[in-house]
Formats: sequence, structure tokens, C-alpha cells
Amino acid sequence: MSTDISLPDVCNIGVLVSHRGSNLQAIIDACESGTLKAKPTIVISNNSQSGGLERARLAGIASLHLSSKTHPEPDLLDSAITAALKEHQVNLVVTAGYMKKLGPITLQAFRGKIINIHPSLLPKHGGKFMFGLNVHQAVLDAQETETGITVHHVDGEYDTGQIIAQTRLPVFTHDTAESLADRVIIREHELLIDTLKGITG
Ligand code: GRF
Repeated sequence: MSTDISLPDVCNIGVLVSHRGSNLQAIIDACESGTLKAKPTIVISNNSQSGGLERARLAGIASLHLSSKTHPEPDLLDSAITAALKEHQVNLVVTAGYMKKLGPITLQAFRGKIINIHPSLLPKHGGKFMFGLNVHQAVLDAQETETGITVHHVDGEYDTGQIIAQTRLPVFTHDTAESLADRVIIREHELLIDTLKGITG
């Protein structure tokens, strides 16, 4: 695992999510149990109905819906995301199932301190439409014998930043996109928390 991110002793994490938020929940649980010496201080979603926002509310974490609906002008949305992360004293940003690209203002403000999790062995099966079951179907279509998970730094593109850590797992002949998704998500949570442990110390 390669991590060159320097952080304070208590790391405040900002999490961006779009839907279910199970990776967010893994972070919340790891922080609550003391597995991670970190604190999620803000959860931001482009989707006002996302499970992630609900999970944040239940955990007593500040949560915000910021999207093209709340901020139709892209630069203003980008600034609002940065402002919210700064207001909550975020040291490390995790995009966990966040379906949007971050804008240049946020990328600059948190340069080198934004990580993403993706359910494939990048650089394979990443990119704009590679989310949800699409990723696992692409793995099956390519007749891969193994798949995996990647945690990587975020740059201005989808799924292209420097790789920090990967986990590999086999693809079985009887696998469907759904069965792969079910197996991969469990290992995602483990890899994300292990990687965050490595980063936050
Ligand atoms: C995960 O597979 C993550 O790797 C991908 O989107 C999915 C989000 O799942 N980027 P969840 O919202 O964390 O449950």
C-alpha cells in the first residue's frame, strides 16, 4: 500500500456519497469502535434521497445535499462543496459511491487528500459509466478470472488517480453481476478501513 498523505493526529473525514452509503457506514462504525482514529465530520450527497445522508443523520453527523439542483452553476457548486468541507475542518475527503466528478476548486483545496474506492482492479473497468452492476457485468463480459477493489487518489477524471491499495478476489464460472457485487462489497469495506487505518495512523 502506498500512502504519502500527512494528516493531524485526529483526522476529520468528509465523505461524499450518492446512494446506499454502505462504505460510509463502514467508516462510521470503524470510527465509533475506535478501529479508526478519525471522525467523520460531514457527509455530502448530490442526491437528497440517498441512504448515505440518512446514515449520517442517524449517526449525528452533519449532512448536506449539494447538487446541480441546489447550485445550478458548476463553479458555485464546487465552491459550496469546498466551503462545507472546510467549515467542518476536513483533513481527508473520501468519495465512496459518489457518482459525480469533483470540480477544480475542491481538487485544488484538498490536493492529495482525496481518495476514492472503486469495485474493480483499476485501470480495468473504470470510467464514467462504470458504476454499480455495470462494473461487475463488464468483468464478466471480459471473461476475467479475477476481480477486485481499488482505493486510489482522486484527480479530475473518473477512476484514474494514483493507486493506493487493491484487493483481488476470484471470479467463479457461476458468478452473475449480482453475486460478484455481493462478494465485492464486503471486501470493499475491509479494504477501505484498512487503507484509512494506514493513512490516519
Ligand atoms: C461501491 O461499490 C463503491 O466502490 C462504488 O460505488 C459503490 C457504493 O456503494 N464507487 P455504497 O454506496 O458505499 O454502499
